[in-house]
Amino acid sequence: EKDLGSDLAKVLIPEDRLQAKVRELAAQIDADYADKDLLLVGVLKGAAMVMADLARALHSPARMDWMAVSSYGSGTKSSGVVRILKDLDTDISGRHVLIVEDIIDSGLTLSWLASNLRSRGPASLEICALLRKPEAVRTEIECRYLGFDIPNEFVVGYGLDYDEKYRNLPFVGTLAPHVYGGTTG
Ligand code: PRP
Ligand code: MN
Ligand code: MG
Repeated sequence: EKDLGSDLAKVLIPEDRLQAKVRELAAQIDADYADKDLLLVGVLKGAAMVMADLARALHSPARMDWMAVSSYGSGTKSSGVVRILKDLDTDISGRHVLIVEDIIDSGLTLSWLASNLRSRGPASLEICALLRKPEAVRTEIECRYLGFDIPNEFVVGYGLDYDEKYRNLPFVGTLAPHVYGGTTG
């Protein structure tokens, strides 16, 4: 196991539980899209890990595309106004689209993204999110495939960052309060 150092408080979801859950979600997705062409849309950068593992766990061929979005303004994520940093390469009209995200925190990113993609006329649009923080959600998101509900703590790893660090951890852990100053982000 990787050295937690002093920056992480604890392992919240170990690697084997993450991988088992991703395989479970992939099996559901395989069944639901058995007779459809699936386009996975990963949201950079947080979804990189879950997208890579989920896509490989699928038995059916799926297309993959990526978007990068950023909350508008200087760092605050509360506005719900989102800016596209990198758009899809694909025209999604008439396609079966599954958005793949690492986490639903306030829900504002996915809420904006889902309505943006819906306006492009996909045949269907669903959401797969590995993690959700029910206590932090500010807008209801209809999430068809959900991995884990987690407490409202600062989590990193498996794609999730703090200040761009820790994304490469193979597990999800909670950050020690001394690292981020003690308020949940
Ligand atoms: C994080 C996370 C989700 C979003 C969730 O992305 O990966 O995309 O925030 O927050 P919300 O539900 O409150 O909108 P971030 O904007 O940090 O970019 P990143 O994926 O590059 O880390
Ligand atoms: Mn993200
Ligand atoms: Mg981030």
